Amino acid sequence: MTDLRIFAGRSNPALAEQIAQYLGYPLGRVLLDDFPDGEISLKLLDDVRGCDAFIVQSTCPPVNTHLMELLICIDCMKRASAKRITAVIPYFGYARQDRKDEGRVPITAKLVANLLTTAGADRVLTLDLHAAQIQGFFDIPVDNLSAEPVFSAYFSSLVTGPLTLVSPDVGNVKRARVYANRLGGDLAIIDKRRVSGSETKTMAIIGDVKDKTVLMIDDIIATGSTVARAGEVVRDYGARRIITAATHAVLCGPAVERLSKAPFDRLAVTDTVPIPAAVREQLPALTVLSVSELMGEAIRRIHRNESVSSLFMK
Ligand code: R5P
Repeated sequence: MTDLRIFAGRSNPALAEQIAQYLGYPLGRVLLDDFPDGEISLKLLDDVRGCDAFIVQSTCPPVNTHLMELLICIDCMKRASAKRITAVIPYFGYARQDRKDEGRVPITAKLVANLLTTAGADRVLTLDLHAAQIQGFFDIPVDNLSAEPVFSAYFSSLVTGPLTLVSPDVGNVKRARVYANRLGGDLAIIDKRRVSGSETKTMAIIGDVKDKTVLMIDDIIATGSTVARAGEVVRDYGARRIITAATHAVLCGPAVERLSKAPFDRLAVTDTVPIPAAVREQLPALTVLSVSELMGEAIRRIHRNESVSSLFMK
């Protein structure tokens, strides 16, 4: 078996370190810096020739910098003769621009897929892609893990009494159904309309939340508009307790302020995007669950040519 090497970009060093610890390998040494004009400079200080190389990088804000850094690292590994290169992207940015839903707009998720492949990635490992169909934008293998086992383990100790799984928009219904099947409970759906990139309008709720514990599941919290507004709706419709969960806590713009005012008893997210200590202090309801073991185990299995889907896939 070829040697495993794991490296980290600058987007989420804490998660990369925990993944490496789970695997029992030290993170590879890499010199990353910025040239005076803002271009990224990178040099691998450990040999990758003939190795099974993994680079861990979330494409979270600053999205373009982190994406470019990932592409540069893949290019570097390819030129350094790595045998196989896996882009480990815990949070895959640009995923929401995944279709032409009006004239004269790009499909940026497809562009990112092309860029990763052209740079030299042989595989992609990611988690809770905004839309599972994005896997089809690649002609290389993509393992799209689900954070469901991590969240379900947490929820099972929290949820008591009658439960309703709420999808805060139509796009998350499938996700909510997976949790409903695992935890038991009814399903409710919120009819959301997006007014702008940072504003949403909630039209109606389909399903019953009165006197229920509500578990609201989303993939991303960006500006916080979707979940904060949905929280108000389920509260107004009589929910007894509101637990909100989202895999990727991007938390941009007014997100922290919105979440601090939202009627959540608990707010659970994962560590695919780093959350500053100051933000954690402002959100007492927040719990951050780690996906390091999940991603570490998937890397171990990819390296050993063992099944990933049998344990983790949606
Ligand atoms: C939308 O389709 C996604 O699933 C999320 O609901 C959305 O990206 C969250 O964005 P925001 O927090 O800005 O409402």
